[in-house]
Amino acid sequence: MHWPHKDLLDVSQLSVEEIRHIFETARHFLEINRRPIKKVPTLKGKSVVLFFAEPSTRTRTSFDMAAKRLSADSFSLSKSGSSLLKGESLKDTALTLQAMNPDAIVVRHSFSGAAEFLAKNLRCTVINAGDGWHAHPTQALLDGFTLTQVWKSFEGKEVLILGDIAHSRVARSDVDLLTRLGARVRLCAPKTLLPYNVKKWPVTVFTDLDRACEGVDAVICLRLQLERQEAGLLPDLREYARRYGLGRKHLALAKDDVKIMHPGPMNRGIEISSELADGDQSLILDQVEAGVAVRMAILFIYLLREGR
Ligand code: CP
Repeated sequence: MHWPHKDLLDVSQLSVEEIRHIFETARHFLEINRRPIKKVPTLKGKSVVLFFAEPSTRTRTSFDMAAKRLSADSFSLSKSGSSLLKGESLKDTALTLQAMNPDAIVVRHSFSGAAEFLAKNLRCTVINAGDGWHAHPTQALLDGFTLTQVWKSFEGKEVLILGDIAHSRVARSDVDLLTRLGARVRLCAPKTLLPYNVKKWPVTVFTDLDRACEGVDAVICLRLQLERQEAGLLPDLREYARRYGLGRKHLALAKDDVKIMHPGPMNRGIEISSELADGDQSLILDQVEAGVAVRMAILFIYLLREGR
C-alpha cells in the first residue's frame, strides 16, 4: 500500500486501514521470528540509530533486534554515553546524527514533543519510541496486535486500562488505537492519577476497581510512573496496591477468558499480583514477542516506502 508518512509520531497519524496494514505485515514477521533462522535481507544497506535518552529494556532491545533481523545496521546512543551530558542540545545532537546519513532515528525522550521536534528538523524517518507523557505509538500498535492474536474483532470488546493514567504515554496511545479499532475503553485510577481533561477522552472512567472490572475482556495494567509524579499524588504504595493492584479476586468479576496485559516494566505486588502476571490469562510475554514483529513491520514499511 502507498505509505504517505515520513515519520511515526503517534497512532493518531494513522488511519484504521494503515493500522491494519501494520498488523498484517507484523503477522508475517511474527511467523519469521519463530523460525530457526530469523534473519531476512530486506533492509540490507539501511542504517537505524537508536537514540534513547531515557531508560528502556523492551523498546530498545526489540528495535535493535528488529533492525538486525531485517539486515539493517543499528547504532545505539544513550543519554549517559552521549554529549547531551556535556550540554549539547537535542537539536545539535540530532543534526550531528543526521549528518551521518542514517535512514531512521528511533528516539525516546522525557520531553513530550521531542520526536516531533526531530521530525521537523531531520530528513530521515523519525520513529517515536516514547516522548514524555505524550505518546508511545509502537507500544499501542503492539498491544493492539497482541489482541488480534486472540480476538477476531475488537467490536464489543471492553478493555480496562488501570493505574497511573495521568503520566502514561501508553494510555494515551492505547485509548486512541483501541477505540478506533472498535473496542470500548474504561479507565480506572485514583482521581489524582487521572488526566485533567479526561472528560474529553472517549472512555468511561472509574475510581472503584471492582466496578471497573465487571465484564471486561482485557485489563491493561500500567506502571506507576514515580519518576514523573509530583509529591503527594499517592497516599502510600501499600494503600495504592490495596485499592488499585490487580489480583485474583478481580478475575471473578471480569469475563471468564479475560486477558491480562502490562507494557512493562512491572512493579509486582503493586500494580499487579505475580499470580496474574505469570498466570494462564497473561499476555505480557506475548506483548514482548509481538513488539519485535511490530517494530520489524514499522521499519520495513517506513524504510521501503515509495518516494523516499
Ligand atoms: N513498554 C516499554 O516501553 O518498556 P521499556 O521502557 O522497557 O522500553
